[in-house]
Formats: sequence, C-alpha cells, structure tokens
Amino acid sequence: MSDQPYDVIVIGSGPGGYVCAIKCAQLGLRTACVEKRDTLGGTCLNIGCIPSKALLQASEKYDEAAHHLGEFGISVGEVGFDLAGLMAHKDRTVQANVQGVEFLFRKNKVDWLKGAGKITAPGTVDVDGTAYRAKHIIIATGSDVAPLKGVEIDEQRIVSSTGALALAAVPERLVVIGGGYIGLEMGSVWQRLGSKVTVVEFLDRILPGMDGEVSKQMQRILARQGMAFKLGTKVTAATPGDGGVALTIEPAKGGNAETLDADVVLLAIGRIPFTGGLGLEDVGVAMDERGRVKTDAHFATNVPGIYAIGDVIAGPMLAHKAEEEGVALAERLAGQAGHVNYEAIPGVVYTWPEAAQVGKTEEQLKEAGTAYKVGKFPFTANGRARAMNATDGFVKVLADKATDRVLGIHVIGAEAGTIVAECAMAMEFGASAEDIARTCHAHPTLNEAVKEAALAVAGKALHI
Ligand code: FAD
Ligand code: NAI
Repeated sequence: MSDQPYDVIVIGSGPGGYVCAIKCAQLGLRTACVEKRDTLGGTCLNIGCIPSKALLQASEKYDEAAHHLGEFGISVGEVGFDLAGLMAHKDRTVQANVQGVEFLFRKNKVDWLKGAGKITAPGTVDVDGTAYRAKHIIIATGSDVAPLKGVEIDEQRIVSSTGALALAAVPERLVVIGGGYIGLEMGSVWQRLGSKVTVVEFLDRILPGMDGEVSKQMQRILARQGMAFKLGTKVTAATPGDGGVALTIEPAKGGNAETLDADVVLLAIGRIPFTGGLGLEDVGVAMDERGRVKTDAHFATNVPGIYAIGDVIAGPMLAHKAEEEGVALAERLAGQAGHVNYEAIPGVVYTWPEAAQVGKTEEQLKEAGTAYKVGKFPFTANGRARAMNATDGFVKVLADKATDRVLGIHVIGAEAGTIVAECAMAMEFGASAEDIARTCHAHPTLNEAVKEAALAVAGKALHI
C-alpha cells in the first residue's frame, strides 16, 4: 500500500482522463492518473484523432499537388510520395502530442501511475500489485473496436483503425466495413494514395448520425472522387487467402450472397466501451445494456466515490465531449458547479470536404415533432469558396419556428470543422437565427455562408 492517499485517482489518460487529472490538480486536489499504455493521451493521441489527422493532412497535400494545383495555374513536376515519410510525419505528430501530456502532468504535479488499474474496493486502486488510496476514483478507460462475427482482425489484412493507420503498403483494393467516421476518413486517406476503396454499409445511407442532406451530398462527392458504396449490405464472412481477403456480402434485408475481393479490409462499425480488468463487477458498479458505465447527470456511478467520463459512458464518442466531462467533473469534485451542455457538442468528419454539425438534425426534429424553419446557403455563392476552388457543399441552419432559436447547424464544405466553431458558440449562447444573421462576418470568408444561411431562415439571404 502506498502511504499518502490521493484526493483523486483517474484511470485512463485519454482526453477525458488526462484533462480531468490536470483540472483536478489545478483546483488543488492531489491527483494521480493510471495509464497502462507506454505513452499518455489514450486512443485519441496514440491511435485515433491525432494520427488519423496527420495522415489525412499529408494525403490531402499530396492529392492537391498531384491533381488540383493546375486549377490555380500552378505547374509542378511529377508528384510522388514516400509512404514511410508520411508515416514518419504521423509518428512525429503523435510523439509531440503524447510528450506534451507528460510535460503537462509534470507541470501540474499529476502523478502518472504506470500500469493497469483495478478497483479493488471503493477508495482503493491496485496498479500492477501496488494499492493506492483515493477519496475519488474516476473511470476514464475509453473504448475499443466493435467486433463483427465472421471478420477476425489480424491488423495485417483485416485491420481495425489501428492497423489502417500503419499499413506497410498502399493496398490496391481496400474494402471498408462501415460508412461512418472512421470508414470515410481512413478510406479517404488510402484512396488519395491510390487504393480503390469500396465502403460496405449496413444501412441505406452513410454517416447515420449526421443530417440526411449532408450524408447524401457527402456520398455524391466521395463517389465523384472514386469511392464506391454498397449500401444496405452486410458482411457475413471475411476469408483471408493467397490473393487477399474474400468477403461474403449480402443484402441487409435478405437476398443472395456474393463475394467481394479485397487486399485489405478495414472493420469500422463503431466502438464499444472498454472496462476489461477494472474489477467493476466485484465492486458493484452498474452498467447499462450496452456495457457502458451508468452515471447520473454529475458523472457519479451507483457506488459512492466512483465516477466515470468519456467513451466509457453514454453520449457521443468524441474527444472534446470526454474533455468537457473531465473538466466538469473536476470542478464538481472541487466543490464548484461543473456542467456540460450536450446540445452544443460539435461533430466533424475530416474528409474532403469536411462535414460538421452541432445540435439537432432535420430527421431528429421531425421525429420529435418540433416545428422548425430552414435556411440554406450553398458555397457556390460564396466568394472565398470560389477563390479557393472549393464550391462543394452548403450551410444549413435549423431554427425553432416560433422563437427563431437555433436548434441545429449543418455544414458540408471546405473547413467545415472550423466553420462549425462559431455555430457551437451561437448555440451555447442560445442564439436566434437573427442573432447570427445580424453578426458582422468578415469578408471574404467561408463563414459568411453561416450568416447567409441564418438570413435565409427568414427568407432574407442577400447573395442568392
Ligand atoms: P481513450 O482515449 O480511449 O483513453 C482511455 C485510456 O485508458 C487508454 O489510454 C487506455 O490504455 C487506458 N486504460 C484503459 N483501461 C485501463 C486500466 N485498467 N488501467 C490503466 N489504463 C487503462 N474523436 C474526436 O473528437 N475527433 C477525432 O478526430 C477523432 N478521431 C478518431 C479517429 C480514430 C481512428 C479513432 C479510433 C477515434 C477517434 N476519435 C475522435 C474518438 C476519440 O479518440 C475518443 O472519443 C476519445 O479518445 C475518448 O477519450 P477517453 O478519454 O474517453 O478514452
Ligand atoms: P461510426 O458509428 O461512426 O460508424 C459505423 C458505421 O458502421 C455506421 O454507419 C453503421 O451503420 C455501420 N455499421 C454498423 N454495423 C455494420 C455492419 N455489420 N456492417 C456494415 N456496416 C455496419 O463508427 P466508426 O466509424 O467505427 O467510429 C467509431 C467512433 O469513433 C465514431 O462513432 C466517433 O464517435 C469516433 N470517431 C470520431 C472521429 C471524428 O470525430 N472525426 C473520427 C473517427 C472516429
């Protein structure tokens, strides 16, 4: 048993855990964070957000130089790439980020307890044989790849996102199972580098969590880039052989099976909460029907002194959602009033173009029977987008029919992930569409499309 008890022990150092630990320490709580990986930062920094964005950025630059600079009157010689060089850029980016968290831990005096944490009793965490005491224990153990029966991941030919971030060669044929965030982002990376990519999606649309119009437009644009889609289709088996992997696919609603051949298969049908080895059953922490740790509105589990945040609890599996929860919980433990506004959490798909959203989709508003108004503005009518040769996409503002309060904003287009920041801010402040429409937006910027879409809610768009 280690001698001096902690105020807080956080298990897991992903964006939920490390941010929570830093915030706890900043608020004067004696804090430790347990991490079993060799580096801090969790899924996000090691095998998620950061490495995927490094490869998206690098492959986008290659694609631009190889295929699009000519549109601006720029001629370049033969453009090539060196896969090892791209991977080195990714590795450097990851290393800088994970070392950054280690630095922040030292700066804020958060102890890193290296090893696997197990809760042996309320107030006690065992880390590889040493017991540590704490007043509060926070579970921030994140998530893992959702498996699919008949498709065995070997991280060589049948890969998860982790393998897809580290392929040794560009596969000729990449089949992606799942048309969600990972499928479209990693599919885009390898397609830009030369793979023929086919996305097999169970539902009859891609990006099921996003607004239907955005999904449709995204599919059209990605198809134009060469991505093939098999919607309403399920994979029942993946058999590795000499020539690659043979996938058995069939219509989701029943019908004849056929074979689809691939050199590499990426399984990306979602992620599941990770609680293995934590000892939650023994201490009696309740889980929900989907294996997530059950918490109340203040992140407390049913066992006093044990809390949970991030991917391991309900809600969108996004890094910034986990971070917000980490901060709010730290504030609560320090006696302050932490709070997360789940209505204003943006989501971004970092393909080209990007898709971004905050708030409700049209489908959700219809289902809830909410009366709403729509304002839409296409990037074809935005001066900056024309100058950038990036006129694909639109901004859509959804506002309450009676009060004009913004209920959701959806963007597909260049830099949508950056554009959506002002939309989240507007929703956080409870803006009406008119508030956005009357806010002076710098010219010429892509964000002017947000103002125009907000004007369009009242039928007052100026530039269309
Ligand atoms: P995690 O980041 O999963 O961290 C949990 C940590 O806990 C891990 O390091 C694990 O080793 C550790 N751990 C688990 N059990 C124990 C134990 N018993 N003892 C010690 N340590 C333990 N989200 C975005 O918002 N934007 C993106 O662009 C984005 N891109 C992504 C790309 C990919 C390929 C993937 C897979 C995910 C992406 N995500 C993205 C999702 C994002 O990574 C997660 O939402 C986020 O990491 C969740 O944070 P977390 O702190 O809850 O858990
Ligand atoms: P996802 O939930 O985004 O997409 C999974 C897709 O697979 C869905 O379209 C679903 O309908 C489909 N699917 C489910 N079962 C299937 C089956 N048997 N056959 C075919 N299709 C099937 O999950 P994904 O892409 O694996 O990513 C996991 C999570 O990680 C995301 O939901 C997101 O929370 C996070 N993430 C976020 C990113 C970002 O913020 N840019 C990037 C990558 C991941």
